[in-house]
Amino acid sequence: MEEITNVMEYEEIARQKLPKMVYDYYASGAEDQWTLKENRNAFSRILFRPRILVDVSNIDMTTTVLGFKISMPIMIAPTAMQKMAHPDGENATARAASAADTIMTLSSWATSSVEEVASTGPGIRFFQLYVYKDRNVVAQLVRRAERAGFKAIALTVDTPRLGRREADIKNRFVHEPLPRWIQTLLTTCVLSTEPPQTSDSGLASYVAGQVDRTLSWKDVKWLQTITSLPILVKGVLTAEDAKLAVQNGAAGIIVSNHGARQLDYVPATITALEEVVKAAQGRVPVFLDGGVRRGTDVFKALALGASGVFIGRPVLFSLAADGEAGVRKVLQMLRDELELTMALSGCTSLKEITRSHIATDWDPPRSLPSSKL
Ligand code: FNR
Repeated sequence: MEEITNVMEYEEIARQKLPKMVYDYYASGAEDQWTLKENRNAFSRILFRPRILVDVSNIDMTTTVLGFKISMPIMIAPTAMQKMAHPDGENATARAASAADTIMTLSSWATSSVEEVASTGPGIRFFQLYVYKDRNVVAQLVRRAERAGFKAIALTVDTPRLGRREADIKNRFVHEPLPRWIQTLLTTCVLSTEPPQTSDSGLASYVAGQVDRTLSWKDVKWLQTITSLPILVKGVLTAEDAKLAVQNGAAGIIVSNHGARQLDYVPATITALEEVVKAAQGRVPVFLDGGVRRGTDVFKALALGASGVFIGRPVLFSLAADGEAGVRKVLQMLRDELELTMALSGCTSLKEITRSHIATDWDPPRSLPSSKL
């Protein structure tokens, strides 16, 4: 694994190692996968305006998220079923996050329980929540996460139904044979262990059966009545919803398009970020996930007002390639790249990263100083 020099290289190794059905599930976006490509392309259209001759001999990347101090503004997004990538699954991810002194978010559809992940050792962890029709199940899950020492709930709000991922439909994802890990997952969620019987993707049927499509802002309020943990609303893409999130008591907002797996032709998250940041008016922190693969991407998100970013697929692919060591390396590479980007842009701490360090294609044209010949 020594020849790995950037985060993206893990994807090809994972593709070679994993069964096709699993790789496709991890890699796919919805329908035409336009947003999947755009999540990356939009970063590449943002350019730097670096400042020079700044003493960058000491660079501080530490930050505080919901009051918790972490070593860098790069955290781990919730991704389902990590034991398909590696037998250590979420436990390996948790250990890698702790070693990097950053936050891991555990998926509701994890293949390790909250208790198991907690038992890997100390670490700051968030629990991602899907709201099921059966609210007793939800209350039970939240209570377990609280007891296991999880520090916040990331409420995913972009999945009343599962997006149409055509590779999963072709592969009949999770239909047959239904492996033991998914049975564990299903029983962890106190739900049916019967394999879904439809021609759709198995996961889409599972969601259709269990996840509550009536979910609305009043449920964000309801959630606050059953837990004292701060709630991050994950899946906001517009100023309108950012305002509603603040009004309804969210402790933070995650600008996310679910890794382009839900509604295709939504903008890249880096494109939507700025309007959400403006609408939040500094009342709650705004985070971003989607397409972050480079330290330069992290810097761009911070310049547009994000308080930090989360990564999804890089964790799955590095986990598949090299287990905990792979995830550690991904976090280290992103950290090193962010540090270098800061140094080359003339920033010594995260608060020194400003909007004027980047230029976007939606900026008004800059008037050049008139030349005096
Ligand atoms: C996800 N994501 C996700 N989100 C969530 O709230 N609960 C979940 O269980 C999952 N599961 C999941 C599985 C897989 C395979 C992927 C790729 C993504 C979305 C995830 O949290 C995050 O929003 C994206 O992954 C971020 O985009 P990148 O970093 O993968 O480009």
